[in-house]
Amino acid sequence: MTLTIRPEQPGDHAAVDSLLRAAFADHPHSRQTEHLLVSALREEGALSLALVAEEAGEVLGYLAASPVTIDGAYLGWLGLGPLAVLPARQRAGIGSALAEACLRRLRADGVAGCVLVGDPAYYARFGFVVDDTLVFPGIPAQYCQALRLQPQAVAVRGEVAFHPAFTRFG
Ligand SMILES: CC(C)(COP(=O)(O)OP(=O)(O)OC[C@H]1O[C@@H](n2cnc3c(N)ncnc32)[C@H](O)[C@@H]1OP(=O)(O)O)[C@@H](O)C(=O)NCCC(=O)NCCS
Repeated sequence: MTLTIRPEQPGDHAAVDSLLRAAFADHPHSRQTEHLLVSALREEGALSLALVAEEAGEVLGYLAASPVTIDGAYLGWLGLGPLAVLPARQRAGIGSALAEACLRRLRADGVAGCVLVGDPAYYARFGFVVDDTLVFPGIPAQYCQALRLQPQAVAVRGEVAFHPAFTRFG
């Protein structure tokens, strides 16, 4: 079977909702509201990119990206997440395929940089680093990671704010 990574379509919404519920059901740092977060980002037009991984018509993975501000300004940076793979299909490269496809697209689109909150043991493979020049208020620094994609992003520092939906549902 061939895995396809493609932008989310309206017909995927129910499958993405189920996938997010299943993937985060037992996650220790989750409030199990990722499906609500994605719905809110969609409704507010804040999904800069939403990719699904599909095989034989089944949605197996999902990755979203939305704008973030740094010290109150939009500098062309995005926040990645949530990233999720159906539990039965984890550890088979689907999460990596989504992350790599997303980063290829963001580089091509001239996105300045990306931030995310997650386990560095996973995200380091894509080039993310724990970066204490970018401060994510209220989040332990060891989970706050960044990837600078364009030259103008190298010197950027400051306080990162995700879309307000992350405060409600993140
Ligand atoms: C995290 C997640 C998206 C990874 O997707 P995946 O398709 O299983 O990952 P891949 O197959 O691309 O990569 C597997 C590798 O990642 C590692 N890995 C998976 N989840 C990890 C985690 N939370 N922390 C550290 N390493 C992790 C595996 O050990 C494996 O390593 P290896 O290649 O050295 O064997 C998936 O496990 C998932 O949906 N988890 C539940 C939701 C979640 O935690 N999302 C991320 C929130 S920040």
